[in-house]
Amino acid sequence: MQPALFCGLSITYLGGTSYTWSLAMGILKASSSSGLHFIFLLLSLIIISGVQGRTAKDKGGFRPQKLFVFGDSYASAGNDDIPVRSWKVPYGITFPVVPTGRYSDGRVLTDFLAKYLGLKSPLACRLRSIARSRWLKYGMNFATGGTGVFDTVFPGPNMTTQIDLFQQLIEMKAASISSGLNSSIALVALSGNDYPSYLARNGSISGLPIIISRVMNQLAANLRRIYDLGVRKVVVSSLQPLGCLPSLTVSSGFQKCNSTFDPLVALHNSMLKRVLDKLNNETKDASTFLLLDVLQIPPSKHQRQANSAGLSSSKFENPLKPCCLGLSDGFICGSVDAATSNKMYTVCPNPKKAFFWDMEHPTQEGWRAVFDILKPSLQQVF
Ligand SMILES: *[C@@H]1O[C@H](CO)[C@@H](O)[C@H](O)[C@H]1NC(C)=O
Ligand SMILES: *[C@@H]1O[C@H](CO)[C@@H](O)[C@H](O)[C@H]1NC(C)=O
Ligand SMILES: *[C@@H]1O[C@H](CO)[C@@H](O)[C@H](O)[C@H]1NC(C)=O
Ligand SMILES: *[C@@H]1O[C@H](CO)[C@@H](O)[C@H](O)[C@H]1NC(C)=O
Ligand SMILES: *[C@@H]1O[C@H](CO)[C@@H](O)[C@H](O)[C@H]1NC(C)=O
Repeated sequence: MQPALFCGLSITYLGGTSYTWSLAMGILKASSSSGLHFIFLLLSLIIISGVQGRTAKDKGGFRPQKLFVFGDSYASAGNDDIPVRSWKVPYGITFPVVPTGRYSDGRVLTDFLAKYLGLKSPLACRLRSIARSRWLKYGMNFATGGTGVFDTVFPGPNMTTQIDLFQQLIEMKAASISSGLNSSIALVALSGNDYPSYLARNGSISGLPIIISRVMNQLAANLRRIYDLGVRKVVVSSLQPLGCLPSLTVSSGFQKCNSTFDPLVALHNSMLKRVLDKLNNETKDASTFLLLDVLQIPPSKHQRQANSAGLSSSKFENPLKPCCLGLSDGFICGSVDAATSNKMYTVCPNPKKAFFWDMEHPTQEGWRAVFDILKPSLQQVF
């Protein structure tokens, strides 16, 4: 008999009510509230797990067999609770045409990394019990939208809880997880949810440096734990320029990045680099922990020029303007008027020409552009 708590996630909502759902409950709820969502779940299983990249061969010295994913919405792929926007139309319209729980019109960072490694994108932990065993051999995705290393103001488990789930599956000797651990790789996406959460709880900007060092200490412990559980390569994303996210550029009509948080981003990233150096020293292998530098989010004019090998200037019409926008304040991408069922958002005619999808997240094409820039640093290891 399998223990009952498989990827059961304890979720605290903004309202403060706390409850635990199991995978079975999530599905039950989905199918009763909307049959469509259940079909989305199934489709996302079939279609996304069918994304096959090049086969893993002769790259660097390390050939990963599995990918384990921890962190937030930049990496999540179906773990979020059903009512959230990543499960709503128009998320997923570019690929695979229906929402799959990804915060994008299509693929996200995880999918591009998996493809690069020659693996299929690993299944969301939440979909585990309805998946066929052959879909489980590429690892597992534990990432969830809104996650921080600490509890954030967003629903979803913190990173410690995600690693707890991973450990539980290893200890249960789930064959799909525990075999070949030493030839697997982990992606850890930490995109800063801890910081707005601190500010939302009346924290001050001047108090942020202390919070950053707390986040780093906890992150270091998390990374060490993933390594101690047997994973021998861990890729960690840097913090993107927060002031370039549409949620902060909207006040300038999506024309320029807000520099208020630049020092915070710089501090986070320099401390992160030190953490990874220290961990690499501890493991006596300088390529165990690798920084995935997503500083090119988004391709600002300045950065585009600085990066001639990177993004072509013609690719994105206005790199700061998101494709999917709420019609007015109070509405977001995916909002529907409860009374009339009218959609309360607009989608740009061609998502491939937009770097950002919604107020916080890149489009598939945006992620592709970022990943193209990241490839050279990965090629040194894989
Ligand atoms: C993560 O969440 C768990 C469960 O809610 C909690 O017990 C733990 O203290 C949290 N860890 C951190 C580092 O915030
Ligand atoms: C992984 O572990 C297996 C079994 O213990 C061992 O045969 C193999 O050499 C290890 N691979 C690496 C890359 O350490
Ligand atoms: C933040 O401060 C405001 C005003 O002082 C107060 O009304 C509110 O309850 C505080 N919120 C939290 C989460 O402490
Ligand atoms: C930048 O963002 C901060 C924090 O939200 C805000 O106080 C400030 O007014 C913004 N600056 C500009 C130029 O929009
Ligand atoms: C790495 O760790 C060793 C001790 O194990 C220490 O002597 C050395 O200075 C460290 N190197 C760096 C670059 O931190």
